[in-house]
Amino acid sequence: MIIGIPKEIKTQEHRVGLLPSAAYQLIKHGHQIIVERGAGIDAGYPDSDYATAGAKLIDSHNEVFRADLIVKVKEPLPSEYPLLHKGQILFTYLHLAANFKLTQVLLKSGITAIAYETVTRNHRLPLLEPMSEIAGRMSVIVGGHFLAKPHGGKGVLLGGVPGVLPGKVVVLGGGTSGVNAARMATGLGADATILEVDVERMRFLDITMSTTHTLYSSEAHLKELLPTVDLLIGAVLVPGAKAPKLISRAMLRLMKPGSVFVDIAIDQGGCAETSRPTTHDDPVYLEEGILHYCVTNMPGAYAHTATQALTNVTFPYIEALADHNLEEACRRQTGLAQGVNVLGGKLTCRAVAEAHQLPYKAFFV
Ligand SMILES: NC(=O)c1ccc[n+]([C@@H]2O[C@H](COP(=O)([O-])OP(=O)(O)OC[C@H]3O[C@@H](n4cnc5c(N)ncnc54)[C@H](O)[C@@H]3O)[C@@H](O)[C@H]2O)c1
Repeated sequence: MIIGIPKEIKTQEHRVGLLPSAAYQLIKHGHQIIVERGAGIDAGYPDSDYATAGAKLIDSHNEVFRADLIVKVKEPLPSEYPLLHKGQILFTYLHLAANFKLTQVLLKSGITAIAYETVTRNHRLPLLEPMSEIAGRMSVIVGGHFLAKPHGGKGVLLGGVPGVLPGKVVVLGGGTSGVNAARMATGLGADATILEVDVERMRFLDITMSTTHTLYSSEAHLKELLPTVDLLIGAVLVPGAKAPKLISRAMLRLMKPGSVFVDIAIDQGGCAETSRPTTHDDPVYLEEGILHYCVTNMPGAYAHTATQALTNVTFPYIEALADHNLEEACRRQTGLAQGVNVLGGKLTCRAVAEAHQLPYKAFFV
């Protein structure tokens, strides 16, 4: 099979779909890998690494799209739409429920589109988890940065110093990103509290994260905490739904000016009334004296780590898709079938079909 790795063209997207070491493994299985020249440079993987692995470097973006299997990071952009063709498999983050135009293009193209974000394993989303881990850890780094006076913050050092109390971090949601945020916060010496609604999850956190406090998530508890919080982190998720709005504008006024709010959940609409998407180019804005950081693709900033973390989890699926036909790959890799969003001009992901009120056709293996 010919596997194509194009350079990402989305603004400030520095990740690449496949590591040179993974390309080497696939070549050992008898596959041909074509990589667009410069595809991995921003993530720290120069062309020479791919060449050493045995991949073929190609100058033309369009040429790479001739491959049987396209492995990417982000969804195709309009200039790439004409390059998608029948008989091809596309494996990438797609988020089709929020993109009607791309859904139409994929249906018309006759391509098989497999979305990272809907592949499942044991009721979890294994290809989303590493990005949540990165966003969670990053939230404390960026939050601590913007708490500094020259960056608009109130001048609190999260870890404190001997004789001075540490900063207070409150994390909304104790799932993958929330736990990683709390781990970073306590690692820095900050005082961290996770607010959750899932009591079983809080029991687990209580046993495994003895330096982090847990508190049942309610408006009353939040109102009590907000006047004392230095860094507030939004890490909630209700699967398949928009993020719950836990912080109203009035509640935000309870926080001290110069405090920082990092809303990781912004890709699902954000968990505050005042949240709106920002980019790495212009990541923060002020509302009610509180600095809001609401970047929708946080892991793109740490492209080297994020590319490794992504390939670690995507590789077994890529290998199965390369070595076998779609049905057999789905039989061998449980949960891959749930990733198939578009097949033969039909929508095979119920959530996407419902979002666009289009017909749904089940894909079983
Ligand atoms: N901005 C980015 O770049 C970026 C990167 C990765 C993930 N994300 C997003 O971050 C969000 C969180 O992802 P995750 O993987 O950590 O999700 P997760 O499912 O692992 O965790 C979410 C947690 O929120 C809890 N929760 C639900 N409602 C709550 C409430 N009212 N109060 C408190 N807790 C509540 C759930 O019980 C769950 O434990 C998602 O929207 C995800 O898409 C954003």
